[in-house]
Formats: sequence, structure tokens, C-alpha cells
Amino acid sequence: MNMLPISLIVNGETVEAAVEPRLLLSDFIRDHLGLTGTHVGCEHGVCGACTVLIGGRTARSCLTFAVQVDGMEVETVEGLLEPNGSLSPLQAAFQDSHGLQCGFCTSGMLMTATELLRGGSIETREDIREAISGNLCRCTGYETIVDAIAGAAGLSETRKGAE
Ligand code: FES
Ligand code: FES
Repeated sequence: MNMLPISLIVNGETVEAAVEPRLLLSDFIRDHLGLTGTHVGCEHGVCGACTVLIGGRTARSCLTFAVQVDGMEVETVEGLLEPNGSLSPLQAAFQDSHGLQCGFCTSGMLMTATELLRGGSIETREDIREAISGNLCRCTGYETIVDAIAGAAGLSETRKGAE
């Protein structure tokens, strides 16, 4: 088997490995690095459960080969924790707002929301809905997820009916 060497930074730590050219980043993250917070749902780019940050931008890890991130920086949901191991403000907002039920979509939602929050461009709840439109959730109905992200963003606009 033809194995290729890769070197990347995952959640701030340098990772070096030899991988098959066809190995998906999602499988590399979960099976080789043991970072199982990144979930795999549809495996063809639709559900968003596998979303990670590559170079600070959201990407479907199920549509990315591990060799494509050679020399790059990857962030997964495990990297969102505070240095002392506590939940980040965004994660705490999801907990406080009941922004998850089964949790399958949650890591992808959190990574998408992280990119959105870092961009600093959230002005309305509609901005949040637009940003998470590529992440599917079968449990929550989305409103509590929007509540959580809005809370983390310090958005004063409240959900109709929740005032
Ligand atoms: S598992 Fe990657 S988008 Fe669904
Ligand atoms: S919390 Fe179950 S899919 Fe979103």
C-alpha cells in the first residue's frame, strides 16, 4: 500500500502520520487521532455533522482527504475547550439554551458557530440561521441552537414567543 507522510497541526498540536492517499480526513480524525467528537452522518457532504475548521474555515471532513491538509491547521470540537478543560462560552451557551438533544449534529454546529463568532458579523438571528443552514439537526427545530449562538454573540434580539 502506498502510504504518504503528512504533518499538520490539530487543535494546536503537531501531528505526523503516514496515511493512504484515499483516507478521509473524518476517518483520520476519528480513527487515527481518536478525536471522536467529530461525527460522521451522511458521508457525502450534506448533513454537516463532520464539520471541522481547516485554516480557520469550516470544511466537510468527509469530503476532504487527509493528505489535503498536509501542512495545515485543523480544529475539531475537542479544541474548543478552555485551557482548564471547562466548556467554552459557546459550548456553555448550547448547554444553557438546550441547543442540543441527541448531540449528533452538535460538534458540527459548534464549529460552524465558531467560525461565525470569530468573523464578528452576527447582527440578527437571520445571520445565524443563514450560517447554520448547511448543518442539519433532526431534534431541536433549530430555535434553541439559534438561541445559543445568539447568546454567545451577545445578540439582544430575542426569539419571537420566547421573550
Ligand atoms: S458526514 Fe460529512 S456532511 Fe454529512
Ligand atoms: S441534537 Fe440531535 S441531530 Fe441535532
